[in-house]
Amino acid sequence: MTKQEQEWSERSRASVVANEPSPGLLKALEILGSNNTVVIPGSAIDLGCGFGRDTRKLLTDGWRVLAVDICETSILRMEESCADIREDRLTTQLASFAETNWRLATLINASLTLPYCPKDEFGYVWSQILAALIPGGVIVADFFGHLPGAPMQEPMVMLFSEAELERFFSPLKVEFYQEWYGDFINASDEIVRRVAYTIVARHTF
Ligand SMILES: C[S@@+](CC[C@H](N)C(=O)[O-])C[C@H]1O[C@@H](n2cnc3c(N)ncnc32)[C@H](O)[C@@H]1O
Repeated sequence: MTKQEQEWSERSRASVVANEPSPGLLKALEILGSNNTVVIPGSAIDLGCGFGRDTRKLLTDGWRVLAVDICETSILRMEESCADIREDRLTTQLASFAETNWRLATLINASLTLPYCPKDEFGYVWSQILAALIPGGVIVADFFGHLPGAPMQEPMVMLFSEAELERFFSPLKVEFYQEWYGDFINASDEIVRRVAYTIVARHTF
């Protein structure tokens, strides 16, 4: 087990299960539903699915879901929490973002996950995300930013500037952008306040 897998495995055992779908996913579904350029429900990827609060919502709504996570405990908990929903629409991959076996998707959900992508893998992972999204498809993702007075970098977490985010999203059309503040556990198990951004963006035709 790599250090990264082990760390997430320990965190998973310690964390409380959040059952409600993430607000970002709900926003992305609302945006997809209000625009008839793509057929929904279609194929979705839940990147870093955790215990499966979003995978469950997607399956309940009729989506086919590829749920990916580096942590075996999370994959098992996600499968358990979705066991009463149609399993033939669920594919799971125990893999890192960089090792993911991608498939085309109408919706890519990355709720509170991409900041944990190793920095040297992010460019590749982002290019794979862009390639997997079908025209008209949507990505929803959370990022962490810099708070004035806080360190510019943190171990094990990527912090993004607004200019970097603008650059990453430039091939897409941003349909929703929200800045929010939250308390998160850092690599030393301390609670730290971070600014976060939830972005929903569309692959335009
Ligand atoms: C904060 S949790 C979020 C879980 C879920 N998306 C949610 O919103 O409830 C982050 C998840 O990302 C996974 N993760 C972290 N680094 C990863 C990587 N490099 N590749 C794949 N999954 C990763 C962790 O195992 C964990 O389940």
